[in-house]
Amino acid sequence: MVRIHPSILSADFVNLERDLGKIASADGVHVDVMDAHFVPNLTFGLPMVERIAEVTELPIDVHLMIDDPDTWAPQYAIDRVDSVTFHAEATRDAVSLARELRARGTRAAIALKPGTLVDAVIEHLPEFDMVLVMTVEPGFGGQAFMPDMLPKVEALRTKAEELGIELALQVDGGITADTLPIAAASGADVFVAGSAVYGHASPAERIATLRDAGRGAFDTGRIDLSAIHRGTAGKGLGADADDAAGSLDR
Ligand code: DX5
Ligand code: ZN
Repeated sequence: MVRIHPSILSADFVNLERDLGKIASADGVHVDVMDAHFVPNLTFGLPMVERIAEVTELPIDVHLMIDDPDTWAPQYAIDRVDSVTFHAEATRDAVSLARELRARGTRAAIALKPGTLVDAVIEHLPEFDMVLVMTVEPGFGGQAFMPDMLPKVEALRTKAEELGIELALQVDGGITADTLPIAAASGADVFVAGSAVYGHASPAERIATLRDAGRGAFDTGRIDLSAIHRGTAGKGLGADADDAAGSLDR
């Protein structure tokens, strides 16, 4: 199933309740918590997430881009928070933290920055409900999708299938109607989109377009990732992503 989680990083923070209303047709809302230490940007913390939980019916998907999630992440496992994602690069003990999140009644998810290999999680996959493969460097919206992250998505999907576990695979960064299908064909099923949704006059229309783009990819099935490396499957990804795909050849 294709799930679309708009990121409110691209919403108007002063009119957040209004902007949450614009994405009511989504499958969840992606909430980026940044501490200006783990990433070079600052957003907000727990009080804001608690307030968001009061004004939206959507499942809340918290993406913690913070240092020391082992200490802070469990506090985010409040009512209405469906999943808490912490970064593999920031945690001291991913398995203990995931167990604690699950014990508190939320889904546990782990995120990988572009430079982090799947080896960081693959041995402990059953401990997580979701893995987030970052398709940009975390910190800012509006960056170009990195197609060279897709082999990580494919490796995780293959491993989850081998183990027979249900694992959600999320991609975050540069997701548009052009890049979503290629990520879906690699095995991703939860798609975060900030600028692609809120940069449009009708976020609801854009959510529907993204969902359709994902369904099409599932119909087509898996793609040949080696074609991306040759640059031939990068067509339609947009100029920046095409450049990124091409750069793999250099
Ligand atoms: C970036 C955040 C993303 C961001 C994505 O570090 O984690 O959730 O909102 O923005 P777009 O969709 O514009 O790339
Ligand atoms: Zn995010």
